[in-house]
Amino acid sequence: MYSSYIAGIGHFVPERVVTNFDLEKLMDTSDEWIYERTGIKERRWIVPCTETTTSMGIKAAKAALQDAGKSPDEIDFIVFATISPDYYFPGPGVGVQEALGISEIGALDVRNQCSGFIYALSVADQFIKTGMYKNILVIGAELQSHGLDKTTRGRNVSVIFGDGAGAVVLSAAKLNNSSQILSTHLHSQGSNAAELMVKDPGNLSKERFPIDFAEHEIPESYFPYMNGNLVFKHAVTRFQEVINEALSANNKSVSDLKLLVPHQANYRITQFVQRKFALSDAQVMSNIHRYGNTTAASIPIALSEAKQEGRIQRGDLVCLAAFGSGFTWASALIRW
Ligand code: UT7
Repeated sequence: MYSSYIAGIGHFVPERVVTNFDLEKLMDTSDEWIYERTGIKERRWIVPCTETTTSMGIKAAKAALQDAGKSPDEIDFIVFATISPDYYFPGPGVGVQEALGISEIGALDVRNQCSGFIYALSVADQFIKTGMYKNILVIGAELQSHGLDKTTRGRNVSVIFGDGAGAVVLSAAKLNNSSQILSTHLHSQGSNAAELMVKDPGNLSKERFPIDFAEHEIPESYFPYMNGNLVFKHAVTRFQEVINEALSANNKSVSDLKLLVPHQANYRITQFVQRKFALSDAQVMSNIHRYGNTTAASIPIALSEAKQEGRIQRGDLVCLAAFGSGFTWASALIRW
C-alpha cells in the first residue's frame, strides 16, 4: 500500500472579465443584488469560441505538471471532472491524453457537478493507494458561459457561474508520507436531483420526443434550473456534516485546520460555514468575488491560488469540501 499526495497544482482562467455591471446590460439585475446575495463582483467568461473545457483543462494540467516538476510521460492516468464537456460524448479526458501526447493511458471522466473535483481526487487516491498508478492528473474544468440563459429569465442562475480550470498531479509516496491525502468522504441524495439540473438535452424519457418548439426559442429545460433557496439550505447543512466527518475520521478538530477550501458556491454559504465552525478569515479560502462559481473547477482554482499566496505550506492540514447538484457532497482532508 502507498499513500498519495499533491505533487503539483495549477490553474487557468480566461482573460475576459465580466463584471456585475456588464450583466446589467444583458438582463434585469444589479451589482447590488448579485454582490449582496452571492459575494460575486466579477467572473471570467471566455471570448466566445476561443477556449473549450478541454483546452482550459489542458492549460491547468500543464501548469500542475510544471509545478510538480514532472513531464507528461510520467503520468499514467487522467481523471477529468466537468459538467460542461465539449461534446455530449466523448468526455474531455481523452482530449488531454491526446494534447499532452501521453501514449494511450487511461482517461476517466467524472460527472459529479460541484463535488466533481473531490470525487475525482478520491478516485485517483484509491488508484494510487493500491499501487495501480504512480502519477495521476486530476482536472476540474468548466466552460459554463456558453450554456447559460443570459436573459432575465435565467438571471438567478446565470449571474453565479464562471469559466475556468484547475488541476493537480497526484503522486505515490510511501505509506506514512508527511504529505498525503488522509481521507475522502463522498455522498449523494438523488431524491433532490430535480432541484438543480439541466434537464435537456440529456433527457431520454418519452417527454423529450418529438422536440417540438419554435427554432428561435430555446426551451428553459436546455439551461440550468436551480431551486436556489432549497439548495442553499441543504448546502449549509451538508458542508458542516461532511467537514465534521473528515475531521472526526482523522481525530482532528477545526483548530487543527490551517485552511478550509470550500467549493465556491456562494460567499453567504461560505460565511455561514465559517461562523458555525468559528474559523478565522485566515482559515477559509474565498475567491468567489473574482471568479463566481466555477463548479468542478472551483476547488482546484482556489487551492492553487492559496498555494501561490503562501497560505499553505507542506505539513499543513487542509480540508476540501463541496456540495452541489445531485445532490452530491464530499470532503477531503489533506496533509499538504
Ligand atoms: O454550486 C452549486 C450549488 N449552488 C448553490 O449553492 C447556490 C445556492 N443558492 C443561492 O446561492 C441563492 O439561492 C441565490 C443566490 C441563487 C438566489 O438568492 P435568493 O436569496 O435565494 O433569491 P431568490 O431566488 O429567492 O429570489 C429573490 C428575488 C426574486 O424576486 P421576487 O420574487 O422576490 O420579486 C427573484 O426574482 O430576487 C429575484 N432575482 C434577482 N433579482 C436581480 C433572482 N435573481 C436575480 C438577479 N438579479 N440575478
